[in-house]
Amino acid sequence: MADHILALDQGTTSSRAIIFDGECNAIAKAQREFKQIYPSPGHVEHDPLEIWGTQLAAAQEVLQQSKLAPEDIAGIGITNQRETVVIWDKKTGQPVHNAIVWQSRITSSICDRLKADGLTDLVQQKTGLIIDAYFSGTKIQYILDKVPGLRERANKGEVLCGTIDTFLLWNLSGGKLHVTDPTNACRTMLFNIHTLDWDEELLKILNIPREILPEVQPTSFVYGDTNSQLFGKSIPVAAMVGDQQGATFGQCCFEKGTAKNTYGTGCFMLLNTGSEPVKSNNGLLTTVAWQLGDKVTYCLEGSIFIAGAVVQWLRDEMQFFTDSAEIEKLAAEAKDTGGVYLVPAFVGLGAPYWDQDARGTITGITRGTNRSHLARAALESMAYQTADVLTAMTSDSGIDLKFLKVDGGACANDMLMQFQADILGVSVERPQILESTALGAAFLAGLATGVWKDMDTIASSWALDKEFVPSMTEDNRDKLYSGWKEAVRRTLSAT
Ligand code: G3P
Repeated sequence: MADHILALDQGTTSSRAIIFDGECNAIAKAQREFKQIYPSPGHVEHDPLEIWGTQLAAAQEVLQQSKLAPEDIAGIGITNQRETVVIWDKKTGQPVHNAIVWQSRITSSICDRLKADGLTDLVQQKTGLIIDAYFSGTKIQYILDKVPGLRERANKGEVLCGTIDTFLLWNLSGGKLHVTDPTNACRTMLFNIHTLDWDEELLKILNIPREILPEVQPTSFVYGDTNSQLFGKSIPVAAMVGDQQGATFGQCCFEKGTAKNTYGTGCFMLLNTGSEPVKSNNGLLTTVAWQLGDKVTYCLEGSIFIAGAVVQWLRDEMQFFTDSAEIEKLAAEAKDTGGVYLVPAFVGLGAPYWDQDARGTITGITRGTNRSHLARAALESMAYQTADVLTAMTSDSGIDLKFLKVDGGACANDMLMQFQADILGVSVERPQILESTALGAAFLAGLATGVWKDMDTIASSWALDKEFVPSMTEDNRDKLYSGWKEAVRRTLSAT
């Protein structure tokens, strides 16, 4: 009986596949890493065919591992790194250029021009976004301008464009489906989050032909079937969701005023604001959380570019340890950071500062500063950046958060989670199932195919692992946080 869901979690550094049963148990998992391409400092690319190859291999492996037949899978849910964009030949499927990754700063100067042209308010009003190289629109424009003859081919309808969800669906369906969903579309800077359609005015400004963009369908929806040759039989693809919105769904943040924070390469906090988009005056993004039928739920999002990546930096560039998990022990050797702050503005700063030109800073170093202090400061930087985002969220939404749900790699670190609760002055709740992103995609696909009856049934599956309750005095919190603000002030490019 088809009562399992295959979730494909295509992230920034790896392609994963997980099969969930109807009780939310992950019964099999597979993962394949792929190459990060850095053509020059600050520019990040992926090979789209490697993304597809690793994702397909992980999906085939997980199916084999589970011993299930394709007909036991009710549907596939895709969740993916957002904003990363691919253009490919409609006939051959060959990409015309590497995928330009969300982290890439290659289009910073295009963004500076758009800002200088006074387009900031227009872009925010239509898309909920801030003009930044993070989003796909300027990346598409860049590829169209860079590859010789591509504009003509685009105008003749010979190429297709899409974020990673779209590229995977197109390949899964054997080139039949060219579709995206609003959680991905809304990260392109080309999508009007009020009309839920590509915006003609923005397409014109960025000189992007509408014909190359996918059709937009709801987040939980049977788009069509996979090519039967891939898994031995066709399987319906029944959800596509950007990974951060997927985690929000997986954490069952269904009520207005509930929020989650995911500690991955970066850190992304999303607050459910209900059926109305809330405009930010404090550097947050207004984004689509999901579309179910014709009902849209919106979020406020704080996107932090560097979180777990700071631990990788200490490991790979500073060679503080060989395994990221060792940071907890090293950091615990110091009782505090000794006044050191590390602001990991390695690729500029995202929310709430949006400073493309800021670069990382370490402040407060003394003769006694050692590796433990720095390791601790690196961990604490995730908590401080989250606090910056939460302050902005409270002020934009008027919602006083009672608790924050957490997931992602670094939330396994008890010391960091306790510090997070202390600095926020808000309880932090870690769930038993930490695969929130993949689970969210599975829930969405399961809703479309009848594995889960409704959202109430899904919500009842959320279970707490550990709650971290704030225990720091207000004085101490204020003192530490004002030190962080000063370190950020010194990091910003205008100072
Ligand atoms: O917006 C970027 C985000 O979707 C990347 O997520 O988990 O692949 O680092 P992740």
